[in-house]
Amino acid sequence: MSRNQDPAFWAAARKHLIRYGGSFDPAIIERAEGCFVFDADERPILDFTSGQMSALVGHSHPHIVATVQRQMGAVAHLFSGMLSRPVVNLAERLAALAPGLDRVMLLSTGAESNEAAIRMAKLVTGRHEIVAFSKSWHGMTGAASSATYSAGRKGYGPAMVGSLTIPAPNTFRPRFRHADGSLDWKTELDDAFGLIDSQSVGCLAAFIAEPILSSGGLLELPLGYLAALKEKCRERGMLLILDEAQTGIGRTGTMFAFQRDGVTPDILTLSKTIGAGLPLAAVMTTAEIEDIAHEKGYLFYTTHVSDPLPAAVGLAVLDIVEEEGLVARAGRLGARLFEGLSQLKQRFDCVGDVRGRGLMLGVEIVNPDRSADHELGSRIAAEAFRRGLSMNIVKLPGMGGVFRIAPPLTISEEEIDIGLRIIAQSIEAASVSGARAPGIAAE
Ligand SMILES: Cc1ncc(COP(=O)(O)O)c(C=O)c1O
Repeated sequence: MSRNQDPAFWAAARKHLIRYGGSFDPAIIERAEGCFVFDADERPILDFTSGQMSALVGHSHPHIVATVQRQMGAVAHLFSGMLSRPVVNLAERLAALAPGLDRVMLLSTGAESNEAAIRMAKLVTGRHEIVAFSKSWHGMTGAASSATYSAGRKGYGPAMVGSLTIPAPNTFRPRFRHADGSLDWKTELDDAFGLIDSQSVGCLAAFIAEPILSSGGLLELPLGYLAALKEKCRERGMLLILDEAQTGIGRTGTMFAFQRDGVTPDILTLSKTIGAGLPLAAVMTTAEIEDIAHEKGYLFYTTHVSDPLPAAVGLAVLDIVEEEGLVARAGRLGARLFEGLSQLKQRFDCVGDVRGRGLMLGVEIVNPDRSADHELGSRIAAEAFRRGLSMNIVKLPGMGGVFRIAPPLTISEEEIDIGLRIIAQSIEAASVSGARAPGIAAE
């Protein structure tokens, strides 16, 4: 019997864990190294989602392991009013990477960083309305979940007063089209802001956006969109907050995704990738905005703000990204992965679309008429897992099942090819099997 079937483990899991969404994979993970996680049978599973889109430099990178051991022995956590070298050094390093965004605060999670950014935008503008995309995900805490529209809105009472949304542009399923059928995002954006202006009570504080909407189905903002969005914000005296939880630190082939567009946000939030799997997040803004916030008494005092241990890890992540040339590597290997996935699109009708940038790609699974085929997507994911590949599938109303593919930037060409082979085999197997996907149901 497989050690993964350990009845006592699964009975205890069912009895004692609070189920927080989705289902659990049918394996017990014992350890992880590089681009693989290993289950209880010591079976390697290729990790095409970098854990929860975070293990940017692979699992158990020796430099990260050594940094945690060293810093843990020196100082891990401090009174929030005390400063240490890793915190100031990381702030300085990040500021150098994002010219104009000179002020940095170090926190723990993505939701928390967006909470801090939205709170700052409200205080600085003296307004309270926050606009976000209809397929956004900014986190599970108050203001962050109020600005999250892809999932989880129902059943929790009122969202924050002043929560507004506009449609996320979708090149595969355009709402506004040019004569050739392609997405007319300019008209869509104008139309959307017309609706915002009608709904607003005159207190627009900020727009919060992901440069590539990940949980919303890997929707990339078309080139030019971000600049137009920033202009819409400027016209209304709103701040632009960019949430680069997943796109930041090289994943898309530039250090930050916004650099492709030449548009600097007023506030930038980083999480997931900056800690490469450990809880580290950052809020970055201009000196001008931070000065106003401070003068107005900005308060975001938390237990783990400015903790030295995660800051030291952040510095190690930046060192690794620089030393191993991972930003350029994301572009190069991303192109190989994109090409391989595009070949699968030629080969299989159910692959409706391949999109994304660098090592952050999406594959949309559809019926022959391009309507959503969530069931097939789930079967492909289950077949892939059985064959040793972990892929995450997003299932949203109105869209097909979308695989989010974002392996560590340290992935090799060979590992990419292994992943592509398994995806092809899994599509073949799932298309004929029609079997239900296994998994421990969370609901
Ligand atoms: C773009 C984006 N922002 C924020 C978050 C929330 O981060 P966390 O789960 O660390 O609070 C996520 C998580 O998936 C995300 O994808």
